[in-house]
Amino acid sequence: MSGFSIDWLNLREAADHRARDAALMMKALAWLAAHSAEADGSDARKQQNAATIVDLGAGTGSTLRAFSAIANKSDGRRPEINWRLVDQDVALLAEAARRHSQTHSLQAVEQDLSDIKNLPLAGSQLITASALFDLVSAAFIDELVTVLHTCAQQSPIALYSALNYDGTTKWSPDHPLDELVLAAFNRDQQTDKGFGKALGPRANTYIQEKFAEAGFQVITADSPWQLNGDDAELVCALGEGIANAVKNDAEIDADELQQWLAFRQANAGSGRCSVGHMDLLITSVSW
Ligand SMILES: C[S@@+](CC[C@H](N)C(=O)[O-])C[C@H]1O[C@@H](n2cnc3c(N)ncnc32)[C@H](O)[C@@H]1O
Repeated sequence: MSGFSIDWLNLREAADHRARDAALMMKALAWLAAHSAEADGSDARKQQNAATIVDLGAGTGSTLRAFSAIANKSDGRRPEINWRLVDQDVALLAEAARRHSQTHSLQAVEQDLSDIKNLPLAGSQLITASALFDLVSAAFIDELVTVLHTCAQQSPIALYSALNYDGTTKWSPDHPLDELVLAAFNRDQQTDKGFGKALGPRANTYIQEKFAEAGFQVITADSPWQLNGDDAELVCALGEGIANAVKNDAEIDADELQQWLAFRQANAGSGRCSVGHMDLLITSVSW
């Protein structure tokens, strides 16, 4: 168990898919097509020449679903893809396999990502990680840069990292406690989420800096959640999650927090909420 339930991942998926920058995903697919062997010919030949994507912290396979949807809209060459889904949560991996093993070439790998040097990256052209890198530490990114730099000595490699929280949340209608709650939430986002002190809202800047310093090309795009009354269930769950995360913060008064949450829930069906994220596409060679 990882603390990420199938229900929660289901609830956020539509907002995630709307938020992901489509052009960046197209570029990631184009990278894959350009850096995998030509896939014309028989089914056996296609499979032999298939590209491999390793999805870190794959959950139930949301990134696979997002890529499949975008690939259907692409008129460029679409390589066959072997998906290697890596997660420490067997229940999530089993759900991913249940949904996709009949329709996709899929390997589920139960592994703690902290063991970065032993990540199953062999033979991959693209590594993906969605809603993950704001949970990791600076040391994790440093080590990942080293590992991918080593991979790139063998063959070109790319990293698509989507939906990293950027520290901004804007509510409408606003409430007097919004700013205090957001500051407390962003403090919580930088506590240990299983990888040591988390980067939280600093993740995007840190990843860009470190990969660029190591000679990688980095392209970014904003990918905010844009929520309205149609997302009321997600907005309520988000409000509860935030309230729970900040309830022990020294700057937050418990009664005022309850009033804030009640206000957020009362307005979930008619208000709006925008949560800032960033997507990154990092490649070992310019193209
Ligand atoms: C916010 S969820 C995102 C899941 C999926 N990428 C998505 O976009 O729906 C974070 C995922 O990272 C996984 N995870 C967190 N810490 C991990 C670790 N140390 N090792 C392996 N997986 C981990 C969780 O099990 C969960 O599936």
